[in-house]
Amino acid sequence: MDFQGKHILSIEQFDRDAVEQVLAVARQMTPYVERKKRCSVLDGAVLASLFFEPSTRTRVSFSSAFNLLGGKVMETVGMGASSLTKGESLFDTAQVISGYADAIAMRHPEAFSVSQFADGATVPVLNGGDGSNEHPTQALLDTFTIFDELKRLGKSTDTIKVALVGDLKNGRTVHSLSRILSLFPNIDFTFVSPSALAMPEKIMNVCDTQGHRISVTQDLSTGLQNQDVVYMTRVQEERFDTQEEANLYRGKYRLTQSIYDQYCDSSTIIMHPLPRDSRPEANELSDDLNRNPNLAIFRQSNNGVKVRMALFALVLGVDQQLKKHESDVQWFSRK
Ligand code: CP
Repeated sequence: MDFQGKHILSIEQFDRDAVEQVLAVARQMTPYVERKKRCSVLDGAVLASLFFEPSTRTRVSFSSAFNLLGGKVMETVGMGASSLTKGESLFDTAQVISGYADAIAMRHPEAFSVSQFADGATVPVLNGGDGSNEHPTQALLDTFTIFDELKRLGKSTDTIKVALVGDLKNGRTVHSLSRILSLFPNIDFTFVSPSALAMPEKIMNVCDTQGHRISVTQDLSTGLQNQDVVYMTRVQEERFDTQEEANLYRGKYRLTQSIYDQYCDSSTIIMHPLPRDSRPEANELSDDLNRNPNLAIFRQSNNGVKVRMALFALVLGVDQQLKKHESDVQWFSRK
């Protein structure tokens, strides 16, 4: 796929080759992320980071990725700090910001809003999450992590068994992840959720059309058995009409070390897009798993930097020039 100048809005844009292309460029970013080398290929370039909904990982890792390639970042955080609150359209905002930046990373609480914004943009726009719709860069980093972790464990990727657990209705990461994994052969999907928070039918249809096996259950202990990957998610309380309604589901599914020991294979990889909700009434992924070697959540969030660096290099057309702009690191680094 020719990425140069393209927006990254949805996993629907990708075929398997395009995913492999991103993952291959992401692997080339390892020495920069590990501070063994530095790269200044985006020296002089500017990223506009527009996050109209709370974020830690996506916002900071987009900025870190751009900085690690030598570029500079301008940030707007929260709707209240932008003229969208004065009635400015997404189209107008996109036209204006395109005049100030070479690329735009954006998160917005409404589904499809980032695509509407991209219609008015003249520079590449990368979707950092649009409501409950999609989170394509998260799906790319999740896929990178799954393949990396299976390799670390010496496991085959001929068939991959994945359980997605929790709020599958409102969780955009599981929508994008199901779409992207569907591009690979022989995925066994297990969807574990309360019936009210089930995976949307249109996503199930994507998995089904590609010929993958799908199991659906409301029972966590059934869903955890015989899996390569268990992907836990938070109840997306911000998408419910009331907190009371969200509270009906928070804490319903909890993975602890003792539940892992009881039901999971000893090599099952534990993932979560984060943030995990560590408040006692939720706690879907217990802190007592922190020493479990198969808890991949922090390797997963670190991989976000490599994948976002790869996307910037590809959409700005510099993926073949990394080595030319490489130099040694002068400062102390623990990594
Ligand atoms: N995974 C993820 O999107 O995290 P943030 O909400 O912190 O960006």
